[in-house]
Amino acid sequence: EKDGFPHYMAKEIHEQGAVLRSTLKGRLTEQGVDLSEELDWSGEFVRSLKQVHLVACGTSYYAALVAERVLEQWTDLDVRVDIASEYRYRQVRVTPQTLAVFVSQSGETADTLAAQRKVRSLGARCLAVTNVRGATLAREVHDRLLLKAGPEIGVAATKTFMGQMATLYLLALKLGWDRGTLNPAEAERLAAALIQLPYQVERTLEREEQVRRVAEKYSKYDNFLYLGRGISFPVALEGALKLKEISYVHAEAYAAGEMKHGPIALLEPDVPVMTVMPRDSLYEKSLSNLQEAKARRSPLVAVATDGDDLVTRHVDDVLRIPWSDEVFSPFLSVIPLQQFAYHVARFRGREIDQPRNLAKSVTVE
Ligand code: M6R
Repeated sequence: EKDGFPHYMAKEIHEQGAVLRSTLKGRLTEQGVDLSEELDWSGEFVRSLKQVHLVACGTSYYAALVAERVLEQWTDLDVRVDIASEYRYRQVRVTPQTLAVFVSQSGETADTLAAQRKVRSLGARCLAVTNVRGATLAREVHDRLLLKAGPEIGVAATKTFMGQMATLYLLALKLGWDRGTLNPAEAERLAAALIQLPYQVERTLEREEQVRRVAEKYSKYDNFLYLGRGISFPVALEGALKLKEISYVHAEAYAAGEMKHGPIALLEPDVPVMTVMPRDSLYEKSLSNLQEAKARRSPLVAVATDGDDLVTRHVDDVLRIPWSDEVFSPFLSVIPLQQFAYHVARFRGREIDQPRNLAKSVTVE
């Protein structure tokens, strides 16, 4: 059932192009996004919305952080993201104009379920983004969007992160479209770019050998700092979580601009820095963070765009991704980080599919 792969995680990483394709299928055409089979929202309801709350745990929370940035760009909604175990105990204000989105691969995470029950009783409209049709979460909410990623066996979420992002981008596109905050030409351009994504993901997956070599070189380090800015910050968080979970290597992720506010004190020659820095509007800023890390003689690795020659002058190793529009880069930049964690774990002889102390779904608080 592993299709010849040594681990489910490897198989699931490789399925990500196909996952994107099935998540987008029937929901997106060159003309736009159509979620009417799943969401029977009237135009009036969509236009009445004022806030979106995104609530989740772990990797699903990082997908929500990516979606927050996308929703801010494509809609005029007030967006807030929270960790379910925090949100459920806070004094949150919701109204019928609040769309509360619960992102959970399993649909069984105890904190996410409790958070949903709480704001539903306070009057929010609740939407589940889940991979499991019959899950408790899917049964309890008003509306649901399925990822269509297929079962994920590896404890470390990979293909479902991809599916969650794609589903949340579709939602953002719909909201931007229906509320008129995206002009039709721009919306069509974004839809066309989304349709191309599965191919770009597949081209990125083919580059695994470059990642394996870099992973071998760095597999003996015990502490990593991961950095990213803007839409790459959640990707850095996700990359660090993958490394922690399956290789048991300490990896801390920070918004690159926060480095000076503390973590820079950790830097020394045995603490590598992994920076997610596609060629985007914040690239120059990330480059200056790199220089600060270089001055502390930290080994430097960058996830960077094809054709970016400048970065090679500053770092020791580069994990290359194809060029994409800034807003879509997380779909590509997360791939080398998943593969890096996987190969470091292999070099360290770890369990990979069943890491110690972890369960696939956390059904107790
Ligand atoms: O099933 P859920 O998406 O609600 O699970 C949330 C987290 O428990 C999950 O993403 C966890 O962080 C994974 N092990 C990440 O790889």
